[in-house]
Amino acid sequence: MCGIIGYIGERDAAEVLVDGLKRLEYRGYDSVGIVTEEGRLFIKKGAGKINDLKEKLGLTNLPGRRGIGHTRWATHGIPNDINAHPHTDCTGKIAIVHNGIIENYIELREKLEGSGHEFKSDTDTEVIAHLIEEELKSSKLFEDALRRALLQLKGSFALGIIYTDDKGHLYFVRNESPLVLGIGNGEMFAASDIPAFLPYTNKVVFLDDGEYAVVGKDSFYVKDLKTGNIKDKKIHEINWTLEMAEKQGYAHFMLKEIHEQAKAVKDAIYGNLETIDKVAEEIANYEKVFVVAMGTSYHAGIGAKYFLQRLANKVVLVEEASEFRYEFEDIVDGNSLVIAITQSGETADTLAAIKLAKRKGAKVLSVVNVVGSMATRLSDLVIYTYAGPEIGVAATKTYVTQLTVLAMLAIALAKRLGTVDGKYIKLLEGQLQDLPKYVEAVLGYENKIKALAEELVNKRDFFYIGRGVSVATALEGALKLKEISYIHAEGLSAGELKHGPLALVEEGVPVVAIAPTGKTFDKMVSNIQEVNARKGLVISLGDNEELEKVSQVFLKMPRIDELLSPVVYIVPLQLLAYHLAVLRGNDPDKPRNLAKSVTVE
Ligand code: F6R
Repeated sequence: MCGIIGYIGERDAAEVLVDGLKRLEYRGYDSVGIVTEEGRLFIKKGAGKINDLKEKLGLTNLPGRRGIGHTRWATHGIPNDINAHPHTDCTGKIAIVHNGIIENYIELREKLEGSGHEFKSDTDTEVIAHLIEEELKSSKLFEDALRRALLQLKGSFALGIIYTDDKGHLYFVRNESPLVLGIGNGEMFAASDIPAFLPYTNKVVFLDDGEYAVVGKDSFYVKDLKTGNIKDKKIHEINWTLEMAEKQGYAHFMLKEIHEQAKAVKDAIYGNLETIDKVAEEIANYEKVFVVAMGTSYHAGIGAKYFLQRLANKVVLVEEASEFRYEFEDIVDGNSLVIAITQSGETADTLAAIKLAKRKGAKVLSVVNVVGSMATRLSDLVIYTYAGPEIGVAATKTYVTQLTVLAMLAIALAKRLGTVDGKYIKLLEGQLQDLPKYVEAVLGYENKIKALAEELVNKRDFFYIGRGVSVATALEGALKLKEISYIHAEGLSAGELKHGPLALVEEGVPVVAIAPTGKTFDKMVSNIQEVNARKGLVISLGDNEELEKVSQVFLKMPRIDELLSPVVYIVPLQLLAYHLAVLRGNDPDKPRNLAKSVTVE
């Protein structure tokens, strides 16, 4: 996730900025840049790591006592020197750093290009600099021009802005992307995360959505973006350690990432509004569809199979990439579409499957989180998940965003192919927009789930059952539990239960039943009764209150179409795995024997 730092005071700004950026490194980044001012703007930026760029570009050799720095996690535009922030207007007097996504940047860019603005990068950020420049033509006051420009932006953004001619100030804006001010003595800071300036000050002001701050070295004020009215802001004293601050007060990165999921899903939706239909157009006519992935991404692939089957009438084969690469050589061909799902874009088995598919002439679409990763370079088409960097080893927000974009793709295909009723499409589209709200709602179950984890902490085996698209949730719920709590868990389709695994269900064995209303709800209730007959402990998730009568624990889920339910239903199961892991004394961020990215076969 991009990191922002700003400084104004008496110190050497470049030193403070680079120092602050290093403390934001844990957020993940691919490029770095800083801008300082002394009579004019001085900018150094490039793709790569801070220490390397410090050597190569002399990042700290910039004059001035005010400036802004940025670490970029690419969203629009590949990671390279040009796309690195800051971005400037045509005059080179305004420089901007940005965290987030500007949803209407294409429309704004076209308009600005039409009035003669020349763009240097592929980013959505650069439009903001030109937009302010444009507004400055009709306003003498920089703050007015800035406000008028900001009111035209749609999307999520945290911004740091510097203008050569406005001596003595920096500007910061927050809208759905974090930004905090640091209040020093004769100096001020701003950053996307407190650790960036924690060694200098522990006095902070949290900006809220729709607010901007005008910051001088001795004073600041915050205004409401819409009304322009001054806001009364409280100065908080922070007594966190640096490590606590990095996790924004959450005990672990995994918990922080679980709680970021509503926003991640929203970014995934808005980040893909333009692309999804173009991708759908390119793949609509393929009849042979393979989905390849590993681990959690493979479970998103199971979800994708149901989305594509039910909505686009495609016959879909989902294969672990490690199997596909050895078993499908003679089957995949020029008439095949291979969808590779990989958050890192670097998983060795998935890359090998992509290479095989390419060799055989197949069309390859990858669904990836890390922009510019190897999978994106090998593929014909890419859909990004925009989840931001995931630091916890166990995948959480990348999974829900994979499911989200794959559901969007299936809906776009259904529209194009006319495979399902228009009314149903409308319903799905409406519910898709509401997914962030549903995710937020189920996050509210955390205390209940924590209490449940306390009851279950000594259990030895868990079963997770579901039917249809909920098989993905069953498999993923079980995987989360295994990998961080080290409790044995099996995820399976509920129909399989009585063909063997039921033999292991005895008194008190937890069976998590994923049972949204849908085609197979009644069958799920029968499976639950089979468990009850063996005195198993049924924990059910669903929207139908009938489930309460047949379960020891019932988690009431929002009423949502079965097909979209995996995005929401996995959230309580992630929380259950997390709390069980913590209660058992494990570090959920670093499960034993596992690595974040498996780059060997
Ligand atoms: C589980 C997990 C792994 C990954 C798998 C694939 O929580 O994170 O199972 O899903 O290693 O990784 P990517 O998606 O990077 O290809």
